[in-house]
Amino acid sequence: MKTPLNNSFRRLGLLLLTTLILVTIIHSVAQATALRPIRVVIDGTALTMEATPQIRNGRIMVPFRAVTERLGAQVNWNGRERSVTVTKGEMALRLVVGQTAATNSGRTVTLEAAPLQVAGHVLVPLRFLSTGLGYLVHWDSATRSVIIRSAAEQRAGGVVNLYTSRHYGVEPVFTAFTRATGIRVRFTTGSDAVLRERIRAEGRHTPADIYMAVDAGNLWLAGRDGLLEALNSATLTRNIPSTLRDPGNRWFGLTQRVRTIMYHPDRVRPGELSTYEDLADPKWRGRLVMRPATHSYTQSLVASMIAAHGEARAEEIVRGWVANQPTLIDSDTRILETLAAGRGDVAITNHYYLGRLLQANPAFPVRIFWANQDNRGAHVNVSGAGVTAHAPNRENAIKLLEWLSGPEGQKLFADSNHEYPANPNVASHPIIAGFGSFRRDPLNMAEYGRLQEAAVRLLDRAGYR
Ligand SMILES: [Fe+2]
Repeated sequence: MKTPLNNSFRRLGLLLLTTLILVTIIHSVAQATALRPIRVVIDGTALTMEATPQIRNGRIMVPFRAVTERLGAQVNWNGRERSVTVTKGEMALRLVVGQTAATNSGRTVTLEAAPLQVAGHVLVPLRFLSTGLGYLVHWDSATRSVIIRSAAEQRAGGVVNLYTSRHYGVEPVFTAFTRATGIRVRFTTGSDAVLRERIRAEGRHTPADIYMAVDAGNLWLAGRDGLLEALNSATLTRNIPSTLRDPGNRWFGLTQRVRTIMYHPDRVRPGELSTYEDLADPKWRGRLVMRPATHSYTQSLVASMIAAHGEARAEEIVRGWVANQPTLIDSDTRILETLAAGRGDVAITNHYYLGRLLQANPAFPVRIFWANQDNRGAHVNVSGAGVTAHAPNRENAIKLLEWLSGPEGQKLFADSNHEYPANPNVASHPIIAGFGSFRRDPLNMAEYGRLQEAAVRLLDRAGYR
């Protein structure tokens, strides 16, 4: 029996169904355009495959036959047992669809996920190609590519991938490392925070083997957030003094930069200068040029003052700086150029910016003054690095850090930016050796990270912008 009510229900049902179909179509089109198919690249060449890799439960599953045949193995499928056997030289491997247990030359091996069968193709977890077959593999999320390197490629030395915010003069250093070891270095640059976020988001599939950063505060954050592995390397602990590395050995300072006082010699006599704290004296009103509070260099300096004096006294000092109405410029080079141009008398910058300007112009009219020589010493920071927790080329990453801590690496790495080597047995570049010897604040670098938030809050309270 048809009633008007029945009819309107039917119309409503039809409308809902149409809407549902439309939403489904729009959703799948959106997904298809957002996610490009995953590529597989073997020894630098993209593989064409009938089946595409898939991500299942967060794991990348790759078509087994296409990949292993390309690597020169013989592959046989047993439809009744739903098993695959792979033979190559000594190796005889057997996998069964749906089972995590496999055998390799008679030994049992366990896969992190059972092989799948999708449209006639067997897919295995990507990691199995490295743990089971000894290939070097990694997932490049930016290009959605599975990168596989064969044993032959590995014998050629393989690669190491860096995410680095330090970009000054790194290339000649990495070229020298490749010459010494055969290991190629690939690096991606970006800001410290962005690179940390990328490592976090990529998780187990990160291509990054090393996180390299400027400022100990950034290294500390990477360590705290579990992005780095604690290394047990006698070479690194011997070469890098304990104050310049993480107490847990997750990161190591590689070069030292000293943030100290700079002055124009026509307007300031060195006898008038003494400490960071003294720059709060009213005699410096209208004469200071400083870096803004948002920069980690300022935050680490203030963190070191909190460690030395406690928060209350450190805040008084910062309030004194603010009362002197410093010109704030977010570039140490421009700060020094401002002094040189006569638009300020005294500044705080990292030493190497003066080194660079003096290299270009030996008559550059700014002098360096080592702060706090009668007490704790000048404020030291580092650029440094650690091996990521999921490094696909972990051994190569450790080799690179060890090499960077040794005589050749230290010399090249420090000199490329006029920094002081972290390794005390390596001599400094002549320009900065010319700055003379000085006392350094022996505070452990990790304190800058630990006190960073307190420093940011203190700067804000004191009205330092
Ligand atoms: Fe810098």
